[in-house]
Amino acid sequence: MTVDLRDYIESIPDFPGPGVTFRDITPLLGDSEALKTATNALVDYARRQGATVIVAPESRGFLLGTPIALELGVGFVPARKPGKLPRKTVSESYTLEYGSATLEMNADAIKPGDKVLVVDDLLATGGTIAATNKLVERLGGEVVGLGFLIELTELQGREVLKDYDIYALMEYEGE
Ligand code: PRP
Ligand code: MG
Repeated sequence: MTVDLRDYIESIPDFPGPGVTFRDITPLLGDSEALKTATNALVDYARRQGATVIVAPESRGFLLGTPIALELGVGFVPARKPGKLPRKTVSESYTLEYGSATLEMNADAIKPGDKVLVVDDLLATGGTIAATNKLVERLGGEVVGLGFLIELTELQGREVLKDYDIYALMEYEGE
């Protein structure tokens, strides 16, 4: 049986604010076949790109990054929201629609020459992943690909990330 992953994304209009449609991935996470289908597709992509490490940003990225790393047989590195990692870190701030955000990574998490697949649930403006890529590269890693469940094409995150290989399992127009 083939699983159509779009059947497992719930679209919620006007959340978190007017005019924005929230793409809820929890039905996909809650269904073992859908989760396996999505994870396996991203594992295949990681293998094609030759990834030796998986990196994902807190928090929804963690939900996909860890099973992908486990299935691929490589390690997982979190990019965390600020103040959560007690050892030496590198830090990158980025702009959101309203305000700014910061991500931190352990300074010893990536070794020079590591081939990194960065994973997240959703590509919107690309700010989160651009910051994650910078953390990886500051530590000497090579970003060999970016894997997502969903790309919101109208927000043109691809433009911000044009130097990278991108693979998204589903595309949606609009916010
Ligand atoms: C959401 C989503 C992506 C990011 C995409 O995360 O999970 O990480 O936004 O947006 P961008 O491409 O415009 O940067 P959010 O910051 O809401 O946090 P969460 O994962 O902790 O829910
Ligand atoms: Mg997120």
